[in-house]
Amino acid sequence: MAKFFLAFLFVVASVYGQQADSDCPEKNGVFADTVQCDRYYECENFVLSEKLCADGLVFADLGVNSGVGGRCDFPFNVDCKDRPELQPANATANCPRQNGYFAHSDPTVCDQFFFCSSGQANLITCPGGLVFNPNTGTCSWPGEANRAGCQSKDVVAFDCPARVLEADPVGPQFIDPLYADPTDCQYFYVCIGGKEPRRNGCTTGLVFNDLTKRCDRPRNVPDCVDWYKTSEGDLLEPDVLDEVAAPPPKRTNFAGRS
Ligand SMILES: *[C@@H]1O[C@H](CO)[C@@H](O)[C@H](O)[C@H]1NC(C)=O
Repeated sequence: MAKFFLAFLFVVASVYGQQADSDCPEKNGVFADTVQCDRYYECENFVLSEKLCADGLVFADLGVNSGVGGRCDFPFNVDCKDRPELQPANATANCPRQNGYFAHSDPTVCDQFFFCSSGQANLITCPGGLVFNPNTGTCSWPGEANRAGCQSKDVVAFDCPARVLEADPVGPQFIDPLYADPTDCQYFYVCIGGKEPRRNGCTTGLVFNDLTKRCDRPRNVPDCVDWYKTSEGDLLEPDVLDEVAAPPPKRTNFAGRS
């Protein structure tokens, strides 16, 4: 009876050892695991071996027609919805996993993140006004990154004024109105959709004219006439005198890595 039972177990074990994703579907190639996003299989002459992407990377199945088969890539480049499992994380200082782009461990630090490579953390700071976006691994405007505690209201010291909707709205000014930065004549805010403030600046030497909503020479803006006056009384004039239009609001993501 014991012998029969052991033999039965062995049969069960060998059947389970041959799951569909453990068989080579083709002679040569790489194939994604069905449940674990960072596990894949390599077939060489119908000999299957199991592989794991480096901690933090996941397998992108590029399909047999790609000529490449697949590669390990950052999670924001790969759809892991249907195979959500992952290897246990191997964390080191500031790196929740060995590889990837990770938010600062202090949740109130929105504009810095860590790029981790083999467990080595490199601190990267986003350009002014942008915050780390874990969904893209880049720096984004706060409204695009959409992180709790890192919204515009948390990182931008400006509240978009509530607008009185006019009967006859016209032009892009109406969609994304501009407001002078109350603390700095060179700067202004673009309120995207009237709600999300993004700080933008005029060329050095110019100031924002709140009446025309354009960058202008200081002498045309009474409150900012002396903005660039140095202690010696010199007035710095812009190099490019005809560049007086406000730059268009920036809407795109900024790559935080090079
Ligand atoms: C975790 O990462 C460290 C540093 O990169 C490495 O030395 C170690 O072997 C890793 N541990 C495991 C279990 O992979």
